[in-house]
Amino acid sequence: MIGETAKISIEKTTTSKIDSVDFNNIKFGKHFSDHMFVAHYANGQWDELQIVPYGNISVSPACAALHYGQAIFEGMKAYKNKQGEVLVFRPYENAKRINISAKRMCIPEIPEDLFMEALTRLLQLDKNWVPTQEGASLYIRPFIFASEPVLGVRPAEEYTFMIITSPVGSYYGEPVNVKIETEYSRAADGGVGFAKAAGNYGAALYPAKLGQLKGYHQLVWTDAIEHKYIEESGTMNVFFHINNKLITPSLERKTTLPGVTRDSIIHIAKHWNIPIEEKRVSVQEVIEAIQNGTLKDAFGSGTAATIAQIKKIHFNGIDYELPPIENRELSNKLGQYLDCVKRGTEPDIFNWVMKIV
Ligand code: COI
Repeated sequence: MIGETAKISIEKTTTSKIDSVDFNNIKFGKHFSDHMFVAHYANGQWDELQIVPYGNISVSPACAALHYGQAIFEGMKAYKNKQGEVLVFRPYENAKRINISAKRMCIPEIPEDLFMEALTRLLQLDKNWVPTQEGASLYIRPFIFASEPVLGVRPAEEYTFMIITSPVGSYYGEPVNVKIETEYSRAADGGVGFAKAAGNYGAALYPAKLGQLKGYHQLVWTDAIEHKYIEESGTMNVFFHINNKLITPSLERKTTLPGVTRDSIIHIAKHWNIPIEEKRVSVQEVIEAIQNGTLKDAFGSGTAATIAQIKKIHFNGIDYELPPIENRELSNKLGQYLDCVKRGTEPDIFNWVMKIV
């Protein structure tokens, strides 16, 4: 039950796994910290709030999420500052977004105070898992799934909310090659593209795999109707710096995830007086800008990906090489600045960083 302060029971592990992790060489999403948060929803309320040792969970084979895909998730990151304090980047945005996803997927909302309390307690307990190495952080994965055993197609009446955390290095270890996708679609008008719904990621795997077999790390999705307008890149939002203006696909059609890193970049660009426009970005204008030399930079943005510079873009049978990475003034500067804000070495002028005390 949620009150002024959520009552979370805590069972600590007796055998920490931390010494088994090589923090100088961590792959994304392969290691998990010692504890996890779990809550259950039934009879119209979130209850049974607990932090327990990380481990397998038991669900019914009839668990509704497994059959009808009522599952959503979030991604955030925690860092350590020079004093060894834990800093989380913009967690309130993730608390808000999980509830936007929840509404679209008929999942009960998580009260913001529960989300924040669960996150804080978990990070207090597992603070030693937040890496200090350059480029590393603690990835935080909150998620909710329908856990009611039921085969009828209807919104489930029972749910499980969990938070697990994972020390990670970079998601893409190098600048990425992407393919503009014009056959398959990620999201349609009226669909769930704006939600962080598990099914969006599952449905993207097959076309992404076809691209990966040809050497592209990711696809750049286009609109489902004409395949003429760029939307996002599945694990990232995308930005192009053309004619000294930063452009990024707008969100109003609700086919693109409203990324927290995307929003941060827009704020920073405005603060730096860099012209920025959220608009429908056509594939044609990007290709023409590459051809006539006005495209100076292109990059993806995301919590996991941070700022992933795009090295090569494939469209319609042609590979277009983009300007050399070392000449990318904007993405290099943005990447560095954001990293410093997250680690507390730049003043937090936007009030984005939450300290765990
Ligand atoms: C994130 O950036 O947090 C994501 O969710 C992308 C991906 C790891 C699924």
